[in-house]
Amino acid sequence: MFDIELIREFEREETPFYYYDLDLLKRTLKSIDLEATKYNFHVHYALKANFNDRLLRLIQENGLGADCVSGNEVLKALEMGFDADKIVFAGVGKSDKEINIALENNIFSFNVESIQELEVINELAAEKNKVARVALRINPNVDAQTHHYITTGLDENKFGIKSWELEDCINTLKKLSSVKLIGIHFHVGSQITDLNVFKSLCVKVNELNNWFEERGHYLQVLNVGGGLGVDYHNPDENDIPDFESYFKTFDQFLERKLNQEVHFELGRAVVAQSGSLISRVLYVKKGIKKNFIILDAGMTELMRPALYQAYHKVQQLSNSDESSETFNYDVVGPICESSDCFAKEVSLREAKRGDLIAIRSAGAYGEVMSSGYNLRNEIRYVYSGERN
Ligand code: LLP
Repeated sequence: MFDIELIREFEREETPFYYYDLDLLKRTLKSIDLEATKYNFHVHYALKANFNDRLLRLIQENGLGADCVSGNEVLKALEMGFDADKIVFAGVGKSDKEINIALENNIFSFNVESIQELEVINELAAEKNKVARVALRINPNVDAQTHHYITTGLDENKFGIKSWELEDCINTLKKLSSVKLIGIHFHVGSQITDLNVFKSLCVKVNELNNWFEERGHYLQVLNVGGGLGVDYHNPDENDIPDFESYFKTFDQFLERKLNQEVHFELGRAVVAQSGSLISRVLYVKKGIKKNFIILDAGMTELMRPALYQAYHKVQQLSNSDESSETFNYDVVGPICESSDCFAKEVSLREAKRGDLIAIRSAGAYGEVMSSGYNLRNEIRYVYSGERN
């Protein structure tokens, strides 16, 4: 991923910054297109993973729709050229203002997370003489077997309508004339690496699809959400996720009824591997118990390790001398928090002040989750694959 030319370019830049490999993103998008088209699947990109303009433009140009979780994300998607009829809007807490933004712009569908929300959308749509298309986000109680902070499809999670509320939901829908049920929606979690989880999801979707049919509701859309994980340990070997097996799983196990569309909402799998956080070593502390590499990037630029104990590969870009001595280091940031640590006890070649370090697979949920804590500077960027 990093050739000498690129590292020379990095040397001239002020750190820290996010580096995005737009060629890799393009290849990833091609693979999604190739594999999803085989089954006529519709893919929306989950903006929450990264809403950097340059990335969004490429994603939009490659024909993906947009999955948004706020009114501002809806506006951003529109500004970046995503068709309104390819925009879906999810979230447990949509405000009236956000619902109105989506209604005014005639988005494809609201993924509705409660009966109360259904009533509010109905009321706001009626005021505008509109009929809002809605898909019910159902919580299928499927264990995504991922970190508990990014598990969303269990009974104890706040997301979606629970199966025991569905009867009520259908009865409410009968009374509402400004919403139209077009489908059902699911999202069970993120960074899912075991395809059996998606197989279990398909089984639940099939059951519910039949349940609605038995009650006389034809569903145009089955939206199975996102969640496909990436290989954080081997970002070079597995730079493009296995979309072939992923989409094939749904084709095999999902029972589509006549003309039913299948929709996806992928975030991480689209952008994670295209991004790296590039940082410089500020100081090296050698101790009796521990050695520390102190970087100029911290949890303020990439929060995932501090928040989820997430693994990101730490790659040295400066010392390429294979014969140099290795040490075990804790690689930490400059922020006044002990959780500001990117990696513990990693074996690295001897590091020195000024060395460039890449924190890999940071394209998803990196830049977007950054914060200004400690009054940090704004995030900077370098792109390759497409120059200004
Ligand atoms: N659809 C819905 C309704 C979602 O809630 C999410 C992610 C997605 C789609 C996209 O999921 P993906 O394909 O990216 O797994 N900040 C966490 C991840 C939070 C995911 C939230 N929802 C992290 O850094 O791991």
